[in-house]
Amino acid sequence: MQLSTQTLSALSGRVATPTYARDRLKIRIVHLGFGAFHRAHQAVYADELAGAHGSDWGYCEVNLIGGEQQIAALKQQDLLYSVCEMNADNWSGRVVGVVRQALHGVTDGIDAVIAAMTQPDVAIVSLTVTEKGYCYVPSTASIDTHNPLIEHDLAYPHQPQSAPGVIIEALRIRREKGLPAFSVMSCDNIPENGHVAHNVVLALAKNRDPALADWIEHHVSFPSTMVDRIVPAMTPASLEKISGVLGGMADPAGIACEPFRQWVIEDNFVAGRPAWEKVGAELVADVLPYEEMKLRMLNGSHSFLAYLGYLAGYQYIDQCMLDDNYVRAARQLMIGEQAPTLHTTGVDLTAYAQSLLARYRNTGLKHRTWQIAMDGTLKLPQRMLDSIRVHLARGTAFPLLALGVAGWMRYVGGVDDNGEKIDISDPLATQLAELVRNSAEGHARVEALLTLHHVFGKDLPANPLFVSRVADAYALLQNQGAKEAVSQVIKDLA
Ligand SMILES: NC(=O)c1ccc[n+]([C@@H]2O[C@H](COP(=O)([O-])OP(=O)(O)OC[C@H]3O[C@@H](n4cnc5c(N)ncnc54)[C@H](O)[C@@H]3O)[C@@H](O)[C@H]2O)c1
Repeated sequence: MQLSTQTLSALSGRVATPTYARDRLKIRIVHLGFGAFHRAHQAVYADELAGAHGSDWGYCEVNLIGGEQQIAALKQQDLLYSVCEMNADNWSGRVVGVVRQALHGVTDGIDAVIAAMTQPDVAIVSLTVTEKGYCYVPSTASIDTHNPLIEHDLAYPHQPQSAPGVIIEALRIRREKGLPAFSVMSCDNIPENGHVAHNVVLALAKNRDPALADWIEHHVSFPSTMVDRIVPAMTPASLEKISGVLGGMADPAGIACEPFRQWVIEDNFVAGRPAWEKVGAELVADVLPYEEMKLRMLNGSHSFLAYLGYLAGYQYIDQCMLDDNYVRAARQLMIGEQAPTLHTTGVDLTAYAQSLLARYRNTGLKHRTWQIAMDGTLKLPQRMLDSIRVHLARGTAFPLLALGVAGWMRYVGGVDDNGEKIDISDPLATQLAELVRNSAEGHARVEALLTLHHVFGKDLPANPLFVSRVADAYALLQNQGAKEAVSQVIKDLA
């Protein structure tokens, strides 16, 4: 049996199902990126709002690139899917009913996606398209005009492929038809994500039509958000567990996540917004301090554990948490090296670090270090390098951040501490492989990887202290392996 409107009644009692009239919901948000995270985060807030507060904010879910099977599954099951919260072996489920339409940019065609975005009721276009979806240069937060999707959209603006290109085409049509603009809300793990979305959309629009760019500048807002909930990529095992929660019913679009969730949203919407504050979201004037805290403390320590953990043979984050040295290192990284760089006020950062470590220990999550390690060239700047810049400016030490960067360098070298090959997933994978192939192991490898200006900017490779700290950490990893290196750095700090 598969999840659908017909089979919903068979679930009652076991899992929460929509208590509201689904057909009352209007498509007021088009979401680009029906991936793991959105399913377990923003859609759940909307589901709670519809259930408990009579909200009529429904979603059109879109995948532009990849994820064909999730869109197909949604269509097959009357646009229903399930979310399970997992805590060790205690799983609880709900069926989300706020999706009113599902489209794929390739299988349904980009015209259908743009038509959905130009429906009069649409007030928000939100995004979880990963760092790659913004087609930007992380070290400058500006558009990458050499990105193949952008090159395509510059040549064929009416048939765009990139997320910014699709947004611009939809806005062009809305302007032409005299329809109001929508807000563009990024929910990706990027610092000042609204600012990055604004930069890439405006830059591409200017290239296309300065008058359209001017209209966008005056009519569209790009609120930033800080999003938090750990949602590992699904596996056959987790899908099977979901089916167990659903009493044996299959749900290929189902998703499992930790119980915790947080959403901080810049309250800057041009055409209205759902009353998210009624279901626990924080609406604020400035998201930056929250984003910075989360990116450096949570995502920074996650990346540290991912690189050093993967090299040592730890497949999952909760396995890293069984190694006391890794726990100490993650805590010290957060409290000693990330927290002092933040602009956050009024938050107990030591308690925050403790709560993160407790979340990492959740044995139900099975969050793969490999998954967190992917796309490092897009993640390192905001997770580690920005903090390193603060330490360099202040003259303070950053041994664990240096070890994290060196860990990434060892990781992209392609061989773990047991001599096993690593499958590197990164938009710059070809360039990384070339740099690795053409450099000798050791200091020369560090120098070679530092030539990636997209990642390190021009300032860090020119800073002798930065280069020597990372090179020393790299040598330690090369000579002792990750486990011993983490233990050594922690001992030196004691
Ligand atoms: N999974 C988590 O625990 C978590 C937590 C907080 C934030 N996030 C953020 O959410 C975002 C999505 O993560 P996820 O876990 O859902 O990943 P996912 O791999 O499950 O989904 C990725 C989504 O991005 C889309 N996408 C990928 N490349 C694209 C491109 N070039 N253009 C347009 N769309 C593209 C895919 O269609 C898919 O919908 C990321 O930015 C991530 O940092 C994830």
